[in-house]
Amino acid sequence: MASSKARVRAAAFGLALIAAAAVAFLAVRIGDEMPRLPPSGERQAVGTVQIGGPFTLVDQMGQVRTEATFRGKFTLVYFGYTFCPDVCPMELATMSAAIDALGPDGAKVVPVFITIDPARDTVERLKSFARNFHPRLVALTGTQEQVAAAARAYRVYYAKADEGAGDDYLMDHTSIIYLIDGEGRYAAHFTYGMAAEQMAARIAEFL
Ligand code: NI
Repeated sequence: MASSKARVRAAAFGLALIAAAAVAFLAVRIGDEMPRLPPSGERQAVGTVQIGGPFTLVDQMGQVRTEATFRGKFTLVYFGYTFCPDVCPMELATMSAAIDALGPDGAKVVPVFITIDPARDTVERLKSFARNFHPRLVALTGTQEQVAAAARAYRVYYAKADEGAGDDYLMDHTSIIYLIDGEGRYAAHFTYGMAAEQMAARIAEFL
C-alpha cells in the first residue's frame, strides 16, 4: 500500500496535469480568436499608406519605362510572375476584361504587369507571356534591385516560396491590382476574385 506521502505526491501530480490541460485548452481557444494571416501563396494587405512611386524598368519590347512614362493615363498595376500557376494569369485576364468592359473609355487605362521574379522573367519571356492578355498590356522587368524598388513603392511583398528548388520554384507575393491616376497617385485597389464588370464599374467612377 502506498504511503500517505506518495498519495499526496500523486494527487499533486494529478492536479498539475489538470491545470496544464486547462491552460492548453485556453491557449487553443484564445488562438481561435486571434486574427489570422491569409494562407501563404498570395498575401493581400493594403493600408492607407502611400501606394506608388518612382521606378525604372524595361518592357517586353526592351524599352525603358519609368512612372513618368504613364503620366496622363490611368494605370492598372499588378505585380506577379509569369510562372505563377493560377492567380497571376487569372488577375491579368480579369484586368484585361475590365478594360474591355469600359468600352471606348478603356483607352484611358494602361494595364501594367510588373514581375517580381526577374531571374526568370526576361524581356523575351515577358514578350511571349504578354500576348496571352490585353493587346496594350505593358509587361515590365528589370534587375533585382529595380524590381525591389518598384515593389517597395507599391508596398508589394514577395519571396521565393521554396528555396533550393533550383529553377523550378513558386513565389509568394502580394496579389492586388492598383488603379493609379494620371498624376501617379493611388486611386483604388482590387483584391483577388473581383469580377471584371465590378472592377470596370469602379474604374469608371474615376475616368
Ligand atoms: Ni501569382
